[in-house]
Formats: sequence, C-alpha cells, structure tokens
Amino acid sequence: MLSEFSVAGMVCPNNVFLAPMAGYTNYPFRTMCEGLGAGLAFTEMVSAKGLHYGNEETRLLLYHGPQTAAPAAEKPHRPIAAQIFGSDPDIMREACESEELGDFDLIDINMGCPMPKVTRNGEGSALMDNMPLAEKIVAACAKSGKRISVKFRTGVVPARKVTREFAKMCEGAGASMITVHGRTADKIYAGPCDFEEIAAAKEAVSIPVVANGGVWNRKDADKILKMTGADAVMVARAALYDPRVFAELCGGERPPLLPIFLRQLHETEELYGPRFALVFMRKMAAFYIKGTHGAAAYKRRLFEAQTTAEVEALAREIWQ
Ligand SMILES: Cc1cc2nc3c(=O)[nH]c(=O)nc-3n(C[C@H](O)[C@H](O)[C@H](O)COP(=O)(O)O)c2cc1C
Repeated sequence: MLSEFSVAGMVCPNNVFLAPMAGYTNYPFRTMCEGLGAGLAFTEMVSAKGLHYGNEETRLLLYHGPQTAAPAAEKPHRPIAAQIFGSDPDIMREACESEELGDFDLIDINMGCPMPKVTRNGEGSALMDNMPLAEKIVAACAKSGKRISVKFRTGVVPARKVTREFAKMCEGAGASMITVHGRTADKIYAGPCDFEEIAAAKEAVSIPVVANGGVWNRKDADKILKMTGADAVMVARAALYDPRVFAELCGGERPPLLPIFLRQLHETEELYGPRFALVFMRKMAAFYIKGTHGAAAYKRRLFEAQTTAEVEALAREIWQ
C-alpha cells in the first residue's frame, strides 16, 4: 500500500498523510506525526481573511519551525502543507501570495468544513453548492503560482452529490491535487465512507487523488486505496487518538507512547506557553488513554491537573 508520492514536483516520503484538524494539527503535533511516518502533514485551516487583517493568532497557526541559516543543500527538504479557507477569490489569492505562506510547498483550499460558523459565510462545504464561485477561488489561488490542492466532500447532502463534477472543476481550474472526504457535509464525521464516490473522482481526473474518511488502521488504509484507486490516504481522527497509527500504516510497530507524549508536551509548552500546553495536552492525553484500563479515573485526574508538571507526572504513571 505504501508508496512514494509526488505531485507537481513535490516529493513526499510516502502517501500516508496527516489531515488538517482545527485546534489540533499545530507544529508539534505535525512534526510528531511526521516523525512517526506521515508523508505529509497539513496545518489546521487558516482564515484567508485573518491573514488579510494580519491577525496574530492566524499567523501562529502557520508556524512551521525555526528558520535556520543552513544552506538548502545541507537540509533535506521535507514538504509542508497549509490549509486555508475563505470565499473571496481575491483574498484567497492574496493569502496564497502572502509571506506567511511563502515557505509552504502546498496550499490546500478547504471546501469541506461543515461547521455553521464557516458555511454561513459561504465558505468551507458551502462552496460545493456554489461551483461557479468555487471555481473562481481555485483559479485565483492557482494564479498565485503556488501548488494548490482542494479538500472537499462528496456533497452537502446526499441528494446533491457532486464529487465527480467538483473533482473535474478543481483540475480544470488549476489544482494539482484533490482530497475527497467520502461523506456528505450533513453527516459531519458519521457513517461509512463512500468509496464509490472517491473512485468516481479518481476516474474523472488525472491529478493525484487523496482518499479520506474512516481510516483507523492498516487494514482500513489498504481497503480505501484498493476500493477507490486513490493515490494516497489521509488520516484524521485515528491520529488524534493515537498518532502512532502512522508507524503502523508505514509497516512498523507502534512504539512506546510515553517519550512521544513527553516530547509533544515539552514542545507545545515551549512554543505556546504553559497555559495553552496544560489545556491542550490534557485533551491530548484524554484522547490517547481512551479505551485503556482505568481510563475514566485517569481522565478525571488529568482534568484536575493544574500544571504541565502534573500532567507529565500522570503521563509517567499511565504509560511507564
Ligand atoms: C477535530 C477535527 C478538526 C478538523 N478540522 C479540519 C480542518 O481544519 N480542515 C479540514 O479540511 N478538515 C478538518 N477536519 C476533517 C478531517 O480533516 C477529516 O476530513 C475527517 O475527520 C475525516 O477523516 P477521518 O475519518 O480520518 O477522521 C477536522 C476533523 C476533526 C475531527
């Protein structure tokens, strides 16, 4: 299943990707997943308008590591991907051309987010019901000269599935890659992933297609690739519950969790400060312990923790 992956001159170590996840796929999370094997990792969705207005929080979401002075030749290049959302073609293009996105090898356009605070502005999955505007956005972003991809769903509701036409539109407007999440927007994340729709997209275009939805282990990944013919697979929730899923998907064993967790804790604290790290890492630990023996009691103690040192001590107790 695992293979090398390249798109429009961008070479990834493999075809197993970490999905964009708002509130989660920050820099330490992305590098952790890459370290465990993910071939490409996406930032969480970033508002093009937020970039336009110079919002500081928006900039922080795009943090992608310390800038070193090492010559490019000495530094093995690992592609990085950002995701943006918005509905104004000019502002979307401006975002693609912005300095904040300058280092990113790929800019993904979110056309799948079902959350009302996004769709009520005609952004995210609302664009699947507005193909002319979606096309203008993709074309405007492609004019920036950056490598563009689009992530979308099979439609807004089952009665209006648009996968095939949408895929073709993206390719025609200049996208170099598409990701299809095999669910309609009204389902949020529930229900089975529609392999047939993803396969229809794959058949309709000649750019690489990434399949997304319901991959929790190697068997799922093999199945989605086989059933859809897609070129790559994208994993979201499975990585939230256990980022070591990438080690498994890449053919290895899941390594011990404690060192991985502690590194994520320390890097998150260093980058975002103790307050954010406490709240965020309590949440992450609660994901990681789900299903393990005594999880309910540990979870209660986790949420009582008032410092990252307490979270660390508890992590050592759980996973040592
Ligand atoms: C907490 C959370 C946040 C998400 N945020 C984004 C996002 O910012 N952009 C996006 O395109 N999709 C987002 N998604 C959707 C995922 O990228 C993915 O398409 C979806 O979860 C299906 O994949 P899965 O079955 O592997 O979870 C999010 C999903 C979750 C669970």
